[in-house]
Amino acid sequence: MKKIRCLISAGPTREHLDPVRFVSNPSTGKMGIAIAEACRDAGWEVELVLGPTHLKNPDGVETSNVVSADEMYEALSARFGACDILIMSAAVSDMKPKVCESSKVKKSRMNFNVEFEPTRDILKTLSARKASQILVGFAAETDNVEDYARRKLEEKNLDCIAANTVCKGEGGFASDDNALTLIMRGGEKIHIPMASKSAVAKSLVEILKKRFSPQAR
Ligand code: CTP
Repeated sequence: MKKIRCLISAGPTREHLDPVRFVSNPSTGKMGIAIAEACRDAGWEVELVLGPTHLKNPDGVETSNVVSADEMYEALSARFGACDILIMSAAVSDMKPKVCESSKVKKSRMNFNVEFEPTRDILKTLSARKASQILVGFAAETDNVEDYARRKLEEKNLDCIAANTVCKGEGGFASDDNALTLIMRGGEKIHIPMASKSAVAKSLVEILKKRFSPQAR
């Protein structure tokens, strides 16, 4: 039987102002790495595009290490056509400085009113190229979690979105545990209760396998 080819993004992106300063977010990539390991353990062929993290690349998973949203887009875009399922768990920075200096700026000459521009919405851009791929997004929210997640599911034309509360003490960024509410394109909701990120990842992959494997579709 043909192996399911899964493309996963994980971790933050960094948008540099100069070689030693950047804008980013607290994501560590732990959830996405756990998902990559769970997909690998399910016998899928896995490619991971991973933003900067202190964690090591997972064993047995072909990993591309990237820094910025632009690099993450290039790496995913090159692989998207050949995948069966894209799981976009990366916390992509929404903004990047208009100018990135090639050498360190001295603070005496620093401009404290930095101009930013939006980064590309990677998931939305790839979704517009969707053929038969299954697209799974993540919605990192502090409030109105399910409501915002549902909007993203529609706006980005996804098959499933994992609503993820990222408030302190409720899982999310840098925590060892997490809980997810999956919202399917048809409106169905499946809750994965608080557990270690590897247990949550395993449940997520089992659900995706049941829903979206070629026999189930
Ligand atoms: N995403 C992306 N490219 C971006 C921003 C987000 O591909 N520039 C993806 C994320 O990987 C995630 C989904 O879009 O799968 C939702 O990301 P999230 O940060 O929750 O929401 P945003 O779309 O950035 O919207 P907002 O910041 O307004 O909540």
